[in-house]
Amino acid sequence: MHATREALLHRLSAGNKELSGEELAASLGISRTAVWKHVHALQAEGLDIRAERGRGYRLYDDVLVASLLAEGLAGLRIGSRCVVMPEVDSTNSELMRLATQEGGAAPDGTVLLAERQTRGRGRLQRDWLTAPQHSLAMSVLLRPPLAPTEVAQLPLLTAVAVQQALLDIAPLRIKWPNDILFEGRKLAGILTEMRAEPGAVHAVVIGIGINVRSPEGGWPEALRAVAGDLSSAGDLSGMAGYSSSAGDGIRRMDVALAVLRRLDALYHEYLAHGFEPIREAWWQAHVACGQPVRVHNGKTYIDGVAEALDADGALLLRTPAGLQRIITGDLELRENI
Ligand code: BTN
Repeated sequence: MHATREALLHRLSAGNKELSGEELAASLGISRTAVWKHVHALQAEGLDIRAERGRGYRLYDDVLVASLLAEGLAGLRIGSRCVVMPEVDSTNSELMRLATQEGGAAPDGTVLLAERQTRGRGRLQRDWLTAPQHSLAMSVLLRPPLAPTEVAQLPLLTAVAVQQALLDIAPLRIKWPNDILFEGRKLAGILTEMRAEPGAVHAVVIGIGINVRSPEGGWPEALRAVAGDLSSAGDLSGMAGYSSSAGDGIRRMDVALAVLRRLDALYHEYLAHGFEPIREAWWQAHVACGQPVRVHNGKTYIDGVAEALDADGALLLRTPAGLQRIITGDLELRENI
């Protein structure tokens, strides 16, 4: 985006109120006429910026602004570089391309957000729907000092980060392996991908999709019974006091910042103290500790009691045939079946 327009959006978004042409002109070092022209250009791009007579300009859209993200993550590992793109196939695919491109590969901590994903991907080869202005699609690049086998711990760590970061809004829970639920409905998911060779991890991309609001017109039929969103889940009053055009008091930048800051903190803790504290936090937040569950592993259904999470992220299921280690699949609480 044009640098002055990005700076203008930054101020309007951070200000979260009317800002006069004069204030904007002074802070951007341009004339009031230039402010007016840039506002018009942004409006022509479809942004809802309204000029209130005698009061100034106000942004009513919930926009993603790279410089706001960078400011909010300043000094942290996560957010060492922040990129916002209007449209990508998948933020995970795009970030992996940036991570592995020859000459100037993206650094550890790079964060990529996109307004639209044309081929958003979920776990187990599923599609992931990203509704513009309603969802957050973000990916984080890490170059962790881990063995390839330890990387399976990172999506679990990320699930804890998302769950803890958004606890002020709603009592969210985790469902194995890393779905984030509110009252049984999934409102966020995590997809982790890696480039590695035996013994060496080159790049890990952690993709986080959060349904901030339900899509305009509602969820597609197939998701209606299972998808949830943050805006209908809870109390948004703690989210930086922001009131967006959607009138629901939530701004995706605040959600992204809360999650990424928590992720940064937990990742540091993990590098210093290992997986055990994360595993405990994960288990505390899990929906099905010691409860009867059914896991579908793509081929068969396995019934048992969820007994523990092991250090590799596998679920330990107590079944009539003994303790089974479940590495992948979908879990349902048996009371819901
Ligand atoms: C799941 O199936 O639960 C995982 C969903 C992960 C979706 C996110 S959105 C951002 C990133 N880009 C993708 O294509 N997928 C992940």
